[in-house]
Amino acid sequence: MTDLDASTVVIENLRRVATLCGDALEGDVVLGIRNGRVRFAGLRGSLPREFGAALRHDAGGRLLTPALIDCHTHPAFVHARAEEWRMKLAGVSYEEIASRGGGILSSAAHVRGAGNDQLAEATLRHLRALRAHGVAVVECKSGYGLSLEHELRQLRAIAWAAEQAGVKAVGTCLAAHALPAERRGSPELREQYLREVCEQILPQAAAARLALRADVFCERGAFSVEEARRVAQAARACGLALTVHADQLSHSGGARLAAELGAQSADHLEYADDADIAAMKAAGTAAVLLPGSTFFLRQERWAPARRMLDAGLKVALSTDFNPGSSPVCNPAFIMHLAVTRLGMTAEESLHAFTGGAAAALGLDGQEWGCIRAGSRAAFAIWDVEHEQELPYYVGSNLCAGVITCRGWQD
Ligand code: NIG
Ligand code: FE
Repeated sequence: MTDLDASTVVIENLRRVATLCGDALEGDVVLGIRNGRVRFAGLRGSLPREFGAALRHDAGGRLLTPALIDCHTHPAFVHARAEEWRMKLAGVSYEEIASRGGGILSSAAHVRGAGNDQLAEATLRHLRALRAHGVAVVECKSGYGLSLEHELRQLRAIAWAAEQAGVKAVGTCLAAHALPAERRGSPELREQYLREVCEQILPQAAAARLALRADVFCERGAFSVEEARRVAQAARACGLALTVHADQLSHSGGARLAAELGAQSADHLEYADDADIAAMKAAGTAAVLLPGSTFFLRQERWAPARRMLDAGLKVALSTDFNPGSSPVCNPAFIMHLAVTRLGMTAEESLHAFTGGAAAALGLDGQEWGCIRAGSRAAFAIWDVEHEQELPYYVGSNLCAGVITCRGWQD
C-alpha cells in the first residue's frame, strides 16, 4: 500500500489516465495533488509551478484510474464456509443450508466465538485483500453478530481494520440479516429480535457513529417486506441512510420497498422486474448488482442490468465479498461477469465500480470515483495498457497498487 504522506505530491510517469469524467489523458501525463485533492491532471509541460517542490511518485509508465469503490461487502467474518460449499456442490440449496442452521448463522457462531483481536485481524486481512485489488473505499456491513453486543463488536472491528488497511470504510448495520438461533421457534422470540434491532442495535450503532447506513435482508427465510419496512423506519428515525438486500433469490418485494423508502440502493436484484426498475428510477434509488454471488451460488437468473441501464437507472457493481455467497475480493472478476453475463460494456463495468458505486453510497460524484480538479487523491494503478483490459484478463489481479495521499479522506 502506498500512502503518500505529503501535502503536495506529483504522480508521474503515467502512460494513460482514465479520468472517468471526460476523455482519458495520454502521453507524458502527471497528476498534481494538494491536501488530498487533485489540482492538476495533464501533460508534464503544463504542471503548475506550485508543484516544483512536491513529493514525487513514479508510477512506472502504467495506467492510472480512480481507486475503486466497493459498495457492498460483508468483511467482518472469521471463518470460511468451505464445508457448506461442498454441500452446495452436492446439490443442497443456499436456503436449505440456511434452514439447517448453516449459512449466515454459522458465520455468526464463529464471530461470537472469536475474540476481538481475532475478529479485527480477520477483517483487516479482508480489507487488505480488497485494497490489493484496487479498492480504496469499502462499504462494510455487520450482520454476523445478530445481537447488540456482537453487531457493535463487528462494527468496531471494521472501523479499526479500515484505518489499519488505509481504506475508507462506510459502515452499515445489517443486524436484520437473519434471525439469530436463540430467537427462533416462536413469533414472540422473532418479535423480540425485531425489537432489539429497532430499539437497541440500530440506535446504538448510529449514536456511536459506527454505522452511517442500515441494511435489511428482505427475502423468504430472512425478513418479510413488512418487517423490513419496520426496520427501515427505525433506522431512518436514528438518522441512518438505507439500503436493502432485495429480490436476490425470489421476487420478494425488496426493490419496491427500497424505492418506497427512498433508499440509497437496492442490491442483488436478480428477480427485479420492469415495474421495480421504474419505481427505483422514480425514487432515485441505485441498483447495486452483485454477479459474484449469482455466479458462486450458480443461480440461473442474472440481474437485468441491460434493462436497468437502458432505463437510466444508476447502476453500481460490487464484490459482495462474504463467506457464503461471494468469496470474491477481485473487482476485475466482477467486471468480467458484468460484461459476459449481464450484458454491460467494459466502460460501464468500470463506471459501476467508481462513479456508480459513489452514487450508491451517497458520495459526491464530483469528488469520488473520477479524476478532475477537486477530486479525492485515491488512485489505482494497473499493469495493463487500457482500462478495457481489466475485465478481459479474467481472474488475474493486474492491480499494481492503490495510491492515496495525505488528507484524501478528510
Ligand atoms: O449478500 N443475501 C444475504 N447476504 C449475503 C450472503 C451472506 C452469507 O451467506 O453469509 C449476500 O449474498
Ligand atoms: Fe450482501
